Amino acid sequence: MQSQATYNYKVVRQFAVMTVIWGIVGMLVGVIIAAQLVWPELNVHEWLSYGRLRPLHTNAVIFAFGGCALFATSYYAVQRTSHAPLFAPGLAAFTFWGWQLIIVLAALSLPLGFTSGKEYAELEWPIDILITVVWVSYAVVFFGTIVKRTVSHIYVANWFFGGFILTVAVLHLVNSAAVPVLAAGVLTPKSYSAYAGVQDAMIQWWYGHNAVGFFLTAGFLGMMYYFVPKQAGRPVYSYRLSVVHFWALIFTYMWAGPHHLHYTALPDWTQSVGMIFSLILLAPSWGGMINGIMTLSGAWHKLRDDPILKFMITSLSFYGMSTFEGPMMSIKTVNALSHYTDWTVGHVHSGALGWVAMISIGSIYYLLPRLFGKPEMASKKLVEAHFWIATIGIVLYIASMWIAGVMQGLMWRATNPDGTLTYSFVESVKATYPFWTIRLLGGLMFLSGMLIMAWNMFLTMAGGKAVNDAPVLAPAAAH
Ligand code: HEM
Ligand code: HEM
Repeated sequence: MQSQATYNYKVVRQFAVMTVIWGIVGMLVGVIIAAQLVWPELNVHEWLSYGRLRPLHTNAVIFAFGGCALFATSYYAVQRTSHAPLFAPGLAAFTFWGWQLIIVLAALSLPLGFTSGKEYAELEWPIDILITVVWVSYAVVFFGTIVKRTVSHIYVANWFFGGFILTVAVLHLVNSAAVPVLAAGVLTPKSYSAYAGVQDAMIQWWYGHNAVGFFLTAGFLGMMYYFVPKQAGRPVYSYRLSVVHFWALIFTYMWAGPHHLHYTALPDWTQSVGMIFSLILLAPSWGGMINGIMTLSGAWHKLRDDPILKFMITSLSFYGMSTFEGPMMSIKTVNALSHYTDWTVGHVHSGALGWVAMISIGSIYYLLPRLFGKPEMASKKLVEAHFWIATIGIVLYIASMWIAGVMQGLMWRATNPDGTLTYSFVESVKATYPFWTIRLLGGLMFLSGMLIMAWNMFLTMAGGKAVNDAPVLAPAAAH
């Protein structure tokens, strides 16, 4: 007789619910800073000023919203595909509470002005140490479950989740190395980077780009490889392609960081290496996207009336779009136009809203009914409404930023016949206002979609009951 072991759904459920909550918080801050760009008088207090809320937005959406989605989905997928409950459940619970504490500390310290000044790694050293402890615990739970598996095979989603966990650990440890400031012999929360000058810039963007490649991509590809086949009811299109996809992607991403530092003091050859690897990156990115989308082959009709699948497949289209755009922007002559402009912000959000948020939302919609013992979400109509309001919101956001970005780039480089600049900087700012207003509208729509999701989640929770007795599947042979 098999033991009556059950999957650990509790921690998955906690992270899944917090994904929606932190999504709303992070996007609300995004809407506030978008409004501050239109109405600067909204900078009412230094704690709520643009310069402090902007890193709060990026940290909240990437690490709180995206992070909780990654914890929830990886913990779910690794148990189910390993036919084993989570290793060290106490440690798994610690990762939940530890991660929430980190988020709260970030939400307090960033508005108060504590920052290391490194983009996407702004948190000061005491919080960085806590991140390390939680992350190592996460790795122990995840890889411990893989070791405990009763299936000989390790499903490809776990390769992506595992690659993401290992790489983020290395990135965080190297980039966050810092020397704390002593004031009158006492340690303060303030620190300075262990690196200086161009080395600091290089380390920072090796980190920054791989934060995109591993935090915002590899983990979400793990989600794609588990949840798209599940929701579509089809096996992944090509398993062989998925393995090539994994190795090609992780190898190539590592070298692309210098495309963030074109035309800087970084040696020219380093910039060229970054550009070339970024161009190569198009191939594995599109290979993965095609593998995800083609999983639907033979089941395309499901897209017509399954809004969750719509979220997933649309996210893959945006993934394809942003990973085409990225390599183009890494070409030095294109970057000469796009850098410093809203084109970059448009690119970021086509990846962040289109890919990261949409695949997370789709996967969380897949999970919620299963975690609360319901056959489906309380209202399918609301999921459909969410899909459309979010998609239109993204289009408004990214199209306005693209137009604004190209316009800004062209205005800044326009010269009169005598060589003087045609436009002053402030003229380009004035010309951007209509586009910032459209972006604000797009952001408001995306945020409204999240509120609809929260309401639907509440209805599903109210009508259901927490599932804690899902039996672990029997051991399986290799396939
Ligand atoms: C093949 C894949 C990709 C390549 C080659 C790429 C390339 C680039 C380039 C060239 C820039 C502009 C750098 C600058 O001028 O400062 C950039 C910015 C950025 N990209 Fe991508 N991108 C890719 C995919 C993605 C995806 C999928 C996401 C999000 C999920 C993303 C998020 C970002 C972010 C956050 C920035 C802004 C960084 C900053 O300056 O703060 N990228 N990317
Ligand atoms: C309602 C949705 C959102 C709104 C209204 C919004 C708005 C904004 C605004 C106004 C900025 C500052 C742009 C600037 O400095 O010119 C920004 C930056 C950024 N946002 Fe969002 N955002 C939203 C959702 C998201 C999500 C879901 C993610 C990630 C998963 C994200 C990631 C980022 C990143 C990485 C940056 C920094 C970009 C850079 O440095 O180039 N945002 N956002």
